[in-house]
Amino acid sequence: MTMAEQKNDRAAWLKGPPAACSAKPPKPGQPWRLVLLGAPGVGKGTQAELLCTRLGTCHLSTGDVFRAAKSLGAGELSPAMIAALDAMRKGELVSDATVLEMIRERVGCLRCDGGFLLDGFPRTVAQAEALQGILDNEKIALSGVLNYELPLAEIVSRLSGRRTCVGCKAVYHVATRPPKVEGICDQCGGKLIQREDDRPEAVQVRMKAYERSTAPLTEFYTKLGLLVPVSASGTPDEIFERTMEKLKVRV
Ligand code: AP5
Repeated sequence: MTMAEQKNDRAAWLKGPPAACSAKPPKPGQPWRLVLLGAPGVGKGTQAELLCTRLGTCHLSTGDVFRAAKSLGAGELSPAMIAALDAMRKGELVSDATVLEMIRERVGCLRCDGGFLLDGFPRTVAQAEALQGILDNEKIALSGVLNYELPLAEIVSRLSGRRTCVGCKAVYHVATRPPKVEGICDQCGGKLIQREDDRPEAVQVRMKAYERSTAPLTEFYTKLGLLVPVSASGTPDEIFERTMEKLKVRV
């Protein structure tokens, strides 16, 4: 396996300081620094895995950080994190203050020479403005903001069949991306589970939160000349190739 194919364990991202990643991302060339936008279930996590393998960047998902915090004991969770996990369970957004505190603690991941792919952050205009401030301060520029677009009915079907690995967080779908052995992750042998917030009532709340808070981000990034719209219909590989075509234009 080459360095570019090697997956970073994202320890610094998932656990926060003082954890360090065990595999350093590759350094040659200009690193990619991307943001992924799109409704819950559109396939951002799936594309992030494919993009990170090809571009050698690290997959930085804020949802993954919150889900990792769930495995901590009650005594280890701050009151802000307890409130965050409660919001997440219901499908609501976590408060901007909590999300931004978490990002500021992990600013080293944004500085990383391997670049990054932010998935699930920013999610409100206030978060996007704060991110822009952090990047300006660090003299880092985004390469682009990929906005995945898909009709709602297809999104709901993707969410209802999703299964996620409890170990490495790899994402599967019972019909369109099944694992080789039912219930077991192909990559690490971990157990596959259905996420709590993929229950129908939580999905509805998430879609409303997306329309209200996240959809306006497309205007924010269009104004900055960074938005790259990508159709999310077709197979994951087709969408990935479509994304790479769009990115070549920006190199
Ligand atoms: P988060 O983890 O970010 O979830 P999300 O945005 O709701 O997105 P998902 O992970 O649900 O979907 P996805 O687009 O990654 O789709 P996937 O690739 O899995 O956030 C969760 C929660 O955390 C939030 O609700 C909030 O509470 C909190 N939170 C996180 N960040 C926050 C922030 N910044 N501010 C405030 N709150 C925050 O694909 C879905 C399924 O479809 C899979 O089964 C997949 O196999 C399948 N699939 C993918 N592509 C295809 C395809 N092309 N064809 C067929 N099936 C496909």
